Amino acid sequence: MTEQAGKPFLYVVVCAAGIAADVSKLITAAQERDWEVGVIATPVATNGFLDTAAVEAQTGRRIRSAWRSPGDPRPFPPPDAVVAAPVTFNTVNKWAAGLADTLAVATLCETYGLGVPVAALPCVSDALAAHPAYQDSLIRLRGMGVRFGEPYSGEPGQDGTRPDFGWERALDLLG
Ligand SMILES: Cc1cc2nc3c(=O)[nH]c(=O)nc-3n(C[C@H](O)[C@H](O)[C@H](O)COP(=O)(O)O)c2cc1C
Repeated sequence: MTEQAGKPFLYVVVCAAGIAADVSKLITAAQERDWEVGVIATPVATNGFLDTAAVEAQTGRRIRSAWRSPGDPRPFPPPDAVVAAPVTFNTVNKWAAGLADTLAVATLCETYGLGVPVAALPCVSDALAAHPAYQDSLIRLRGMGVRFGEPYSGEPGQDGTRPDFGWERALDLLG
């Protein structure tokens, strides 16, 4: 746990899905449950998918997206738990394959070895989710202990509105 705040530290990994614009809902819910939150976003996600200034004001910490320079201190303490929300098709497949080409997916890859609880809320269209590689990735990550929320496609229902993403599912999955 962090000595600074005396609270457990939660990494929130955010990928470049449209729903990421609402990630403040997850941060608020986590803080209400007494987590200290640090956000790690993919480089694409920081390119307009979320309000970076608002997230940094909410967490009191800079969003991490790139690796620190050698010799710089680690910006965040080690995680007590990690949530990936929203997690994209791209990042799910890279995570399962062990391709650590962004700080966000490298952080997710490390969680297995760290042994901390990990929850993931994919936002992936039905068309992409049908790809066999994606299904194999889910099986592999579940086998590594990752706790997945129910599929969410982001597509409007019959009434034309998108169903609620249910951000708090990520925290519920951590237990
Ligand atoms: C407006 C917009 C919305 C997107 N929404 C999604 C999404 O919900 N799920 C997804 O898997 N990809 C989505 N994408 C595609 C991803 O942004 C793209 O695959 C990107 O490479 C993902 O990078 P990341 O996994 O490193 O964040 C969206 C792209 C755009 C332009």
